[in-house]
Amino acid sequence: MVRHSPDRLEPLRRLARLVPGGMALGRRLRRLSDPDLRELARLQSEQAGHLLQPFPDTSEERYPDLFDALAERLADLPAPRVLSFGCSSGAEVRALQRRMPAARIVGLDLNRRALAKAKAGDPKGDYRLAAAPRPGERFDAILAMAVLRHGQLEADRPQTCAVILPFSRFTAALAALNDALEPGGWLAIGHAHFRFADWPGAANYAADPSQFAGVSAPALLYDQSNQRIDMPQQIAVLHRKLG
Ligand SMILES: C[S@@+](CC[C@H](N)C(=O)[O-])C[C@H]1O[C@@H](n2cnc3c(N)ncnc32)[C@H](O)[C@@H]1O
Repeated sequence: MVRHSPDRLEPLRRLARLVPGGMALGRRLRRLSDPDLRELARLQSEQAGHLLQPFPDTSEERYPDLFDALAERLADLPAPRVLSFGCSSGAEVRALQRRMPAARIVGLDLNRRALAKAKAGDPKGDYRLAAAPRPGERFDAILAMAVLRHGQLEADRPQTCAVILPFSRFTAALAALNDALEPGGWLAIGHAHFRFADWPGAANYAADPSQFAGVSAPALLYDQSNQRIDMPQQIAVLHRKLG
């Protein structure tokens, strides 16, 4: 028999419902007392201009077939340089390092707590609190997985994404990643709320036809005018830079 543990906060919630503004106050107190929620609140105010997906959800071996495909495509390079943009607590970096032990992998994220966890689990890893690579730094592959999106769009599915995450934020992020990618390099974009093909710079990339479980079929997409696309179709995940 499954036993459900009693919700210890329910009596407090019941009390809060009786007081005008009590629930809002409770939510505020919870944000202040939970360090992960505090870090999210800090990011949303201090990094509003840079922050894309605020939520640091990730998991071990989240995209195994994509990681395998990248390792295969980089196999001729003795020490491929790889960027995990929005690496959160480092699961993606570790999965790639397992497949490419000689690779030099950089993980970037704006979330201090997620990065601290990444460093704790991988003390020799190159994890940086940043929204972009260093000037002049170049990579053979860049992953932007579950970053060019926003959890609130997924939850509310508004007709326009303009207020939460406009298309211009997607193109600005892609332009910065493009600058850091070597010609012939690979860009992996997954769980984005926009189509790579809508970005003007996409003309300098060839889409790889490979499909990846759970990533190639987006559930929610917006177009260049920030309007929801009602019948999203399969999209490419891997793109090779031509020149
Ligand atoms: C959902 S997690 C993705 C983790 C991992 N890539 C994956 O797919 O499992 C999104 C992460 O992107 C980070 N992020 C959002 N905007 C960013 C930006 N402009 N620069 C660097 N990291 C960013 C967030 O802090 C968060 O940890």
